[in-house]
Amino acid sequence: MKPYAQLNCEQVYNVWSTDPDQIEIYDLRSQSDFEHMHIPGAKNILIENLEDQLKNLNGRLAILIASPEQIASAKYLNQYSNFALMGECHRWFEEGRPTTGLQIQSHSYFKGVTMGQGIIFHQLFEHESSTYTYLIADSETKEAALIDPVIETVERDLKLIAELGLKLVYVLDTHIHADHITAAGELRKRSQAKTAVSFEAEVNCVDIPLEDGQELFLGKKKITAIATPGHTNTCMTFLFEGMAFTGDALLIRGCGRTDFQQGSSEKLYDSVHNKIFQLPETTIIYPGHDYRGHTSSTVFQEKQYNPRLNVSQTKADFVRTMSELKLAQPKKIHEAVPANLGCGLISNGRVMHPQVADGIPEVSVEDVYSHAEAVKNKKIQLIDVRRPEEFNNELGHIQGSVLVTLGEELTNFLQTADKNSEIIFVCRSGGRSGQATMQSIQLGFKKTANMVGGMIRWNEKKQPVERN
Ligand code: FE2
Repeated sequence: MKPYAQLNCEQVYNVWSTDPDQIEIYDLRSQSDFEHMHIPGAKNILIENLEDQLKNLNGRLAILIASPEQIASAKYLNQYSNFALMGECHRWFEEGRPTTGLQIQSHSYFKGVTMGQGIIFHQLFEHESSTYTYLIADSETKEAALIDPVIETVERDLKLIAELGLKLVYVLDTHIHADHITAAGELRKRSQAKTAVSFEAEVNCVDIPLEDGQELFLGKKKITAIATPGHTNTCMTFLFEGMAFTGDALLIRGCGRTDFQQGSSEKLYDSVHNKIFQLPETTIIYPGHDYRGHTSSTVFQEKQYNPRLNVSQTKADFVRTMSELKLAQPKKIHEAVPANLGCGLISNGRVMHPQVADGIPEVSVEDVYSHAEAVKNKKIQLIDVRRPEEFNNELGHIQGSVLVTLGEELTNFLQTADKNSEIIFVCRSGGRSGQATMQSIQLGFKKTANMVGGMIRWNEKKQPVERN
């Protein structure tokens, strides 16, 4: 037999969870095995019928779940190259990847362990932001909740919910995310689901502003929201049937950063030690992200092995560790945070849509000029951060701009200004206004940007200037 292409469980899962239209999964196990549990979307076929299927794949790749004997018996496979073998997929089931079938009537599997009666649980992954989305449900009433859904994978999640015959009743966000846009608003539009996030987020469009200790129900099964601030002031951990969905408060062998969105290392330490680590040690930790291929942990393991937060680390150790991290801004922060404050629906009243370069949102001279009307109507503030003598020099200043010099004057201004106001910073060449933009972001402004090239570029483009 010629060696056929093989894909391992992870490879198949990565394609299945991100680009399922590229593949067709043919499950050649017995009908009873298939009915008991199978990969959602897989087709149960007989080896005799496989050749017909391979002829009609139109460029897609077939993934075969079959025994070596079945493969050896199918001599015609020699003539085809549009398939790959995946063994009998035990590892898919053992690793707790999404499954469907009769098994969900009574229990679901995670790493081969029965998790309790009547629960449906799926861990889903969005590869661009390395975000985990969780589907939890009560198998009796079929009521389901999605935790941290991502806008890019909304179709996948809705399809899985439909395939499992579930009714989505809640969409929960563990916090206001900076690295991806939530699908909460979109899912609410397309289902009966209610959206929920911490009341601290002050999201007007949310259905349920969650408070510490608040309980929601899937059938008779309880989801408890526990405030675990520190990564952001809006962070909540959701408890459900022995599982803790910790968002970015506690990651596997790590934790979320604490340097923006009202983060606080002291608060995060307290949240983890006084709340999450007080849960039973067998509680399974499901984080909001993982970048190293982990899928879950337990309270016990994190108490022992989390390098930043294990029980021998003092609060002072932790605060120092976090202050020494030098992290770049998340790529999507200026898009994601404002969108997520509007339930993930992008139009949030923002006039200009900056590009982010090196962590700084930027707009061009042309963009600013074409929004002169918005400046005039005070929908956008133009803040010129140069020194007073520069404001009226040969480069002049832009009509409607206000002089607030970088340094103490700007700091005072930012401390009192509305953090939701849309501000474009301007200077001579774009350097100081870039600093001003960063400063504003660190103080929690959500709609600020730097005008690239400053007044030099403005003059080069022969845009009109004023001098008093
Ligand atoms: Fe986060």
